[in-house]
Amino acid sequence: MSFVVAIDGPAGTGKGTITNLLSKEMGLINIDTGATYRCVALQAIRNNIDIGEKDKIIKLLDNININMELDSEGNLVILLNGEDVSKEIRSKEVTKIVSQVSSIVEVRLKMVEVQRNLAKGKDVIMEGRDITTYVFPNADVKIYLDAQEDERAKRRFIQNKENGIEMSYEEVLKNIQIRDENDRHKEIGSLKIADDATYIDTTNLSIDQVKEKVATLIMEKRK
Ligand code: DC
Repeated sequence: MSFVVAIDGPAGTGKGTITNLLSKEMGLINIDTGATYRCVALQAIRNNIDIGEKDKIIKLLDNININMELDSEGNLVILLNGEDVSKEIRSKEVTKIVSQVSSIVEVRLKMVEVQRNLAKGKDVIMEGRDITTYVFPNADVKIYLDAQEDERAKRRFIQNKENGIEMSYEEVLKNIQIRDENDRHKEIGSLKIADDATYIDTTNLSIDQVKEKVATLIMEKRK
């Protein structure tokens, strides 16, 4: 029997941070579904494929193998065909095109299959955009994290700085606005709030406060 915690929400709501912390504290396997789309985007860039060349991007799927494992400190490592691409997939270039790559239906179908396989038979905590609605609509715990746009851009700007990614606040804000718009209007797997998800507005909450709220919801169901 597996236990699935599904967390959705737009960029900069703290999904990744909360998932990472709770996976360590609660012994749940962390599956970063955005990373799977980022791997496809990275392969497209490495192969000099333009975002408009949909057929070429779809062809890439035949030779993409994505895996996730933990390093010695318990942090998630993303492996693309065996290579650690954890840092590279967060680059400005990948971030710029990933939402469009993830809008391609064939890419989505394949990545959802990858995500479900990574979760098979395990107790997992998964974050993304369509986990509560499409990937695992019957998840044991379903949460939607949200925050005001300027707060999300501020958080992502700081996070980028910490990770050595050079982007101005205005650039980050614009990217978030474009991705939000695109993520909310996808043909399949668009970002929306599931009827039975718990909605948490994190705008005025600290990471610890959000973590406690989510942990409580998990503990109630995992008894
Ligand atoms: O969470 P993230 O920023 O790493 O996600 C990268 C992109 O992938 C994001 O713009 C939307 C897309 N994505 C998606 O469509 N479905 C998911 N389950 C996760 C991410």
